[in-house]
Amino acid sequence: METSLTPEKLLSLIFEYTAKITHERNLDRLLQLMADMGRDMIVADRCALWVLDKNSDEVWTRVAHGVRHLRMPSDAGLVGHSIQTGESILIDDAYLDSRFNQEIDQSTGYRTKAMLVIPLRNNDGDVIGAYQAINKCTPTETFSHKDLEYLTLAASYAGKSLEAALLNIEMEETQKEIIFTMGEMAEGRSKETGNHVKRVAEYSKLLACKYGLSEEEAELLRIASPMHDIGKIAIPDAILTKNGKLTDEEFEVMKTHADIGYHLLKNSNMRILKAAAIIAQQHHEKWDGSGYPNGLRGEEIHLYARITAIADVFDALGSEPVYKKAWDLPRILDLFHKERGRHFDPDLVDLFFESLEDILRIREGYTDC
Ligand code: C2E
Ligand code: SIN
Ligand code: SIN
Ligand code: FE
Ligand code: FE
Repeated sequence: METSLTPEKLLSLIFEYTAKITHERNLDRLLQLMADMGRDMIVADRCALWVLDKNSDEVWTRVAHGVRHLRMPSDAGLVGHSIQTGESILIDDAYLDSRFNQEIDQSTGYRTKAMLVIPLRNNDGDVIGAYQAINKCTPTETFSHKDLEYLTLAASYAGKSLEAALLNIEMEETQKEIIFTMGEMAEGRSKETGNHVKRVAEYSKLLACKYGLSEEEAELLRIASPMHDIGKIAIPDAILTKNGKLTDEEFEVMKTHADIGYHLLKNSNMRILKAAAIIAQQHHEKWDGSGYPNGLRGEEIHLYARITAIADVFDALGSEPVYKKAWDLPRILDLFHKERGRHFDPDLVDLFFESLEDILRIREGYTDC
């Protein structure tokens, strides 16, 4: 059995956690930190943050201590009661309370006794979730009114942090959607096959991972690479959708799509769009310096663009836009052997061949017919 914290210890604990929470942007880790803070503050066995999902009328938690990923209707149990009424709950034995939802204990094998539930509110005062503490680890085995007070304090702070994190996630999701749609628009106008954007995204991420970039950076590339041809939206239809080989003049116009894309994206402050701007500008540069628009060579070409170039050409050759027939796989692979160190970064071509099984699996997963 443990003892309650001294006020000094409590204060230093709060400082310690709030410093971490302020800098945490990842929702899962934020929820974990807030749960840990609540548990340590009031010496509970478990603490969980339940988040209200208004779309599905459910509450979910990812970090009930020792339990993962729980979901239940937003009016279920004591948590649901607190969320519906906006009232805090302090009880000594949940099993003596008919509102208690025993299902979770039944599925986890855990034995809940004492429980504290405090609603979490955003800046407008709307309930957006609940802070829940289960089982007190001191000899009394029950939570006190002091505990309620402390956890209420933590909840008022947690509610604001949570709201900010949820808004941030919503923003990011929205941005990803807009970006993806923009990429599809560019591809759609040039009548390229529908899944080109998705495949280029997945190939790029795969190569980025194999290259040793972090999961986060590989994900950045996955989102940014499909926009490589965004500049095509400014190319006249007569050229873009021409049913046949382009003349030299027409190809000169076509080549401007790289710089146009760069100028469309370069002024954004978003990290994803900054990456996309570089990719748009450099995805037709070649390792040996013979590409366009600037004849960059070798590592002068940004890694993201070197990766996207492989993804884009691999997919372009295997698809069938109006102007040409699709190539069969041996012919495509032959081109990558030949262009290793010419068009493409030799190291990335090696990684491409090493990953071929995975790449073909992606291709299978997003076929066009
Ligand atoms: P895209 O169709 O997305 O092709 C991307 C890149 O894949 C091409 O860049 C090229 O490096 C490679 N690629 C695609 N098809 C072939 C092919 O049949 N043979 C070879 N060796 N490589 C191929 P590139 O050449 O800079 O072309 C940029 C864009 O210009 C193409 O994007 C496409 O939209 C357009 N384009 C190029 N040539 C023609 C053409 O003859 N007719 C039409 N209508 N459009 C063309
Ligand atoms: C309840 O809120 O009644 C049960 C939730 C839980 O056991 O975590
Ligand atoms: C192209 O379609 O861009 C080039 C045609 C070819 O090299 O086969
Ligand atoms: Fe292009
Ligand atoms: Fe493309």
